[in-house]
Amino acid sequence: MNRTFVMVKPDGVARNLIGVIMTRFERKGLKLTNAKMMNIDRELAEKHYIEHVGKPFFEELIDFIMSGPVFAMVWEGQDAVKNARSLIGRTNPSEAAPGTIRADYALDVSSNIVHGSDSDESAEREITNFFGKSFEL
Ligand code: PPS
Repeated sequence: MNRTFVMVKPDGVARNLIGVIMTRFERKGLKLTNAKMMNIDRELAEKHYIEHVGKPFFEELIDFIMSGPVFAMVWEGQDAVKNARSLIGRTNPSEAAPGTIRADYALDVSSNIVHGSDSDESAEREITNFFGKSFEL
């Protein structure tokens, strides 16, 4: 049993996809343990994407994630990180398998609807960044 951090990005929120995304996670069998709609400031954006500092798309990524409200969630369940990433699909929607969220709802790597933690360590760091240290299951 573990948990993961998932975030509907500004494009997913603007396109009213929160519900369909949550339904996919619920149908898979994962359990929602926390969620909130919020705006991300520059400090949190840079903290969240710290491993991408210096990459050519970094500034675009930061501007995009601050461009509108996001919906931040914590999902719990067996192999939560791996299962969430399977539901989400590959980073580039044109390479994502049919039936994944990014394949079904996105076209472009810079607006790919949803973020999911890539490891247990990232998940714990991201949950702390977004929900605080005191948040426990
Ligand atoms: S990398 O380089 O392999 O580590 O990058 P990757 O893990 O595939 O992607 C990290 C996040 O950056 C976003 N991304 C981009 N944004 C804008 N433009 C370009 N070209 C681009 N390439 C990747 C990608 O959507 C990832 O966001 P998250 O929120 O982590 O899914």
